[in-house]
Amino acid sequence: MSDAAAWDARYRALPGMFGTRPNEYLRSQAWRLAPGARALALGDGEGRNGVWLAEQGLIVTSLDWSRVGLAHARALAEARGVALTFIEADATRWDYPDSAFELVAWIFLHLPPADRRLVAAGACRALAPGGLLVLEGFTPAPAGRRAGGPQDPALLWSRTAVEECFPALEVLELLEGTVLLDEGPKHQGRAEVVRALLRRPA
Ligand SMILES: C[S@@+](CC[C@H](N)C(=O)[O-])C[C@H]1O[C@@H](n2cnc3c(N)ncnc32)[C@H](O)[C@@H]1O
Repeated sequence: MSDAAAWDARYRALPGMFGTRPNEYLRSQAWRLAPGARALALGDGEGRNGVWLAEQGLIVTSLDWSRVGLAHARALAEARGVALTFIEADATRWDYPDSAFELVAWIFLHLPPADRRLVAAGACRALAPGGLLVLEGFTPAPAGRRAGGPQDPALLWSRTAVEECFPALEVLELLEGTVLLDEGPKHQGRAEVVRALLRRPA
């Protein structure tokens, strides 16, 4: 299942499946984030990352195609006392505005390769010169270890996929390896991930 209705069903069945705290890699970049900067949280689900960015003083657009996820994100924002712009859209079809964001957060958004390239092109267009893209995604697990994230290997990330998707961006960090996730009931324990910090040249 990989469409919006499937995600609606998942969020209905297990609200808070990725927790309400931000992704650890995104949080580690807090020192780079300037209050007042504009951020786009892509595939923001129940809003833990978008809401945290708004709490850091950023002006946040949170985009997801799951209506249920967005409803949970709105409730989280209200509970935390922050305002975000929520957009219900398919990230592959959204009309990405030019140079509109100083930050794009792409956290655990896994797409088929053709869609991934499409969304990556949109994200690059939407980044302002000097803007940052922070990405974390699951990579294939070594033999014998249970993979985290999507079961379809085509949806997984790798360092090479990052390099291929974002050729126009400078690589500030591109890490692949094992991390210990503690992000809600669905993201617990050892996981193989890629973490990338990329910048549109100024
Ligand atoms: C694994 S969840 C991660 C959610 C959030 N980024 C987080 O870290 O908590 C993946 C999210 O991507 C969204 N998604 C997947 N494909 C999408 C698409 N084509 N357009 C918009 N959202 C999409 C799903 O609805 C889901 O909320």
